[in-house]
Amino acid sequence: MAASEKPPSAGAPLPEGSPHPLHVAVVMDGNGRWAKQRGLPRSLGHRAGVEALKRTVEAAPRLNIRWLTVFGFSTENWSRPAAEVAELMALPKRYFESDIARLDREGVRVRVIGRREGLSSDLVRLVEDAQARTARNDRFHLNIAFNYGGQADITDAARRFAEEVAAGRRAPEDLDEAMLGGLLATAGSPPPDLIVRPSGEQRLSNFLLWEAAYAELVFQDVLWPDYGEEHLRAALAEFAARDRRYGAIAADNVLAAG
Ligand code: FPP
Repeated sequence: MAASEKPPSAGAPLPEGSPHPLHVAVVMDGNGRWAKQRGLPRSLGHRAGVEALKRTVEAAPRLNIRWLTVFGFSTENWSRPAAEVAELMALPKRYFESDIARLDREGVRVRVIGRREGLSSDLVRLVEDAQARTARNDRFHLNIAFNYGGQADITDAARRFAEEVAAGRRAPEDLDEAMLGGLLATAGSPPPDLIVRPSGEQRLSNFLLWEAAYAELVFQDVLWPDYGEEHLRAALAEFAARDRRYGAIAADNVLAAG
């Protein structure tokens, strides 16, 4: 599909006029438990997790989602056993090698957000190539958070701003929310409307801390390797039933408050 074409509409339409998230973010959790339930090594859980990612990347544009941000490796995941870290490092490499041509053809812009330090030079090269190759695509945006932590990202942004101040190019009072947001790895993406976490855990785990300010959170009782379009649809339905007020009061309360 050409980058300029509109994404196909959903198979079964969402409720007419329902609020719909432009940007969905996902904590892909539960790979280890999925593997354990089957008596398999955790590595196979992670590989099954990549298949769930592929299904989700296919389903999301069909459901009129334009941005998808997924948590692939956190700055805290380095504390896992070396063999598991090596397996997790191999996943994006394999994914880009096998899928980047198709993603590009389908108009997907790929960005990898997170620190590059600690990643192998091979992986960094693949990431940079994938980003450059898909940089002009606009049909669908896939952000992969890898070696990412919300606190680390805010810290890096603050440090960059402090360097600008030290160099005399900025004054402390120049800093506001828009400027700090523009220094984050997610600059250029709208904030997530909906953050989904499967596997039953109910926390953000250092994911998109700044960007999550007004996101709706949906927690689902399914392990990530089993995740599919039906789960994404269920999350969208839950989102549609939410009343997003951004700190204001509900519209039907305005008169009463008058
Ligand atoms: C958390 O589950 C999951 C991860 C730490 C890795 C998630 C990564 C993928 C699903 C694949 C990423 C693919 C690419 C291309 C980046 P867990 O291992 O903590 O599960 P558990 O809580 O059940 O042990």
